[in-house]
Amino acid sequence: MAALCENLGVNEAGHLTFAGQDTAELAKQYATPLYLLDEDRIRKNCRAYTEAFRAYFPAGSRVLYAAKANAFAEIFRIVQQEGLGADVVSCGEIYTAKKAGFDLSNAYFHSNNKTDEDIRFATENGVGCFVAESEEEILAIAQAAAARGIRQKVMLRITPGIDPHTYEAISTGKVDSKFGVAIETGQADAVTALALAQQQLELVGFHCHVGSQVFDEDVFERTAVVMLEFLASFRDHYGYTAKELNLGGGYGVRYLPDDPSYSLSEKLRQLSAVIGKTCEKLAYPQPAILMEPGRSIVADAGLTLYTVGTVKRIAGYKNYVSVDGGMTDNPRFALYGAIHEVVSASDALAPRTFRCDVVGRCCESGDVIRTDVLLPETVQRGDLLAACTTGAYNYSMASNYNRVPRPPIVMLSGGKSRVAVRRETLEDLVQYDL
Ligand code: LLP
Repeated sequence: MAALCENLGVNEAGHLTFAGQDTAELAKQYATPLYLLDEDRIRKNCRAYTEAFRAYFPAGSRVLYAAKANAFAEIFRIVQQEGLGADVVSCGEIYTAKKAGFDLSNAYFHSNNKTDEDIRFATENGVGCFVAESEEEILAIAQAAAARGIRQKVMLRITPGIDPHTYEAISTGKVDSKFGVAIETGQADAVTALALAQQQLELVGFHCHVGSQVFDEDVFERTAVVMLEFLASFRDHYGYTAKELNLGGGYGVRYLPDDPSYSLSEKLRQLSAVIGKTCEKLAYPQPAILMEPGRSIVADAGLTLYTVGTVKRIAGYKNYVSVDGGMTDNPRFALYGAIHEVVSASDALAPRTFRCDVVGRCCESGDVIRTDVLLPETVQRGDLLAACTTGAYNYSMASNYNRVPRPPIVMLSGGKSRVAVRRETLEDLVQYDL
């Protein structure tokens, strides 16, 4: 198991361990389905970024945690302690951060369609920087800033025209994307000029994000070059030099033991070398570099525990193992066909020879955690299963479909456990019904 991530192991009882703790004990204490989050791993992942940023990028460069990966109060406190800012995309995320005591001047506000109400709420709460995506937004932010008598920092989201090769639904950098303004069509130039003309706005630089879970070797390098060429050509025409260049989401993570490993520090070192060389060629002063990792901060810090219910053998066809969660706590297979490693947590050393689909308990066939899983032949009602690497885009995308309450999040650190988000109750489910 440690082949997937070093926080996974097996103890003498044959139970899966996570962050050094017995998952069977945790299931007994907190019940299932259960999200576990390894706080020490989150901090380690944060430090991998902050240390490399300090080593390789100019002063003012910073790491923002993309809250969409997993947003709840405690995570904002942890990333703030680790010196990260935040990428937030909604009033809900802003409000959660605020309640957690997060300094919102370190927050960058995204979204391809910020409503007037969103903009008012964000300016009122002192969100540090808006990442604007259109002429309408530029004007609306300028108006809200004027109403408050402030000068608001903004960045512009640019579409660099790069295909990162990831799931289509999370690819965002191509010219025809719903996000950003394209360089190719000349719109990026026009919107930048408009932003510069607004007295109430301080344009700090540019943003781009070409996709998530990107493993193409040189996507960040290629993107940085396209962006720097845009920055230089804009400077040549309009005399504006950007202070910040935000390259968007972070690097991909390993979901399966066979996925390739990489050194984050080495990747960032290579990226900084390309940025340095390109700036030199373009005679452009090196901007501060920002990145917004979400997945690579929290994914491998997460594990979901389920209890097996029905084991259905259809002789000559296939087998199903049903668990007490499903697409309501992890919709990633249903949405993208995304695969998580699924293993027995109660019998982690048994030979894995029983081929089955691990499915949830919602009333639709697409409610699948993973197809073609190998489990012990003896798998039966009451056994524990674990879905690995579920720290990102699981809880944050969970739903109450079929009126299923969402599981709690239990944080693990230094051999101790504590509830960070409590389990939803049936009463929670009816609280809005009149
Ligand atoms: N910045 C922007 C502007 C983004 O749109 C995203 C992700 C990130 C940063 C963070 O990217 P990361 O470091 O996590 O790769 N629900 C999908 C992922 C959607 C990603 C959306 N944007 C999934 O489950 O894979």
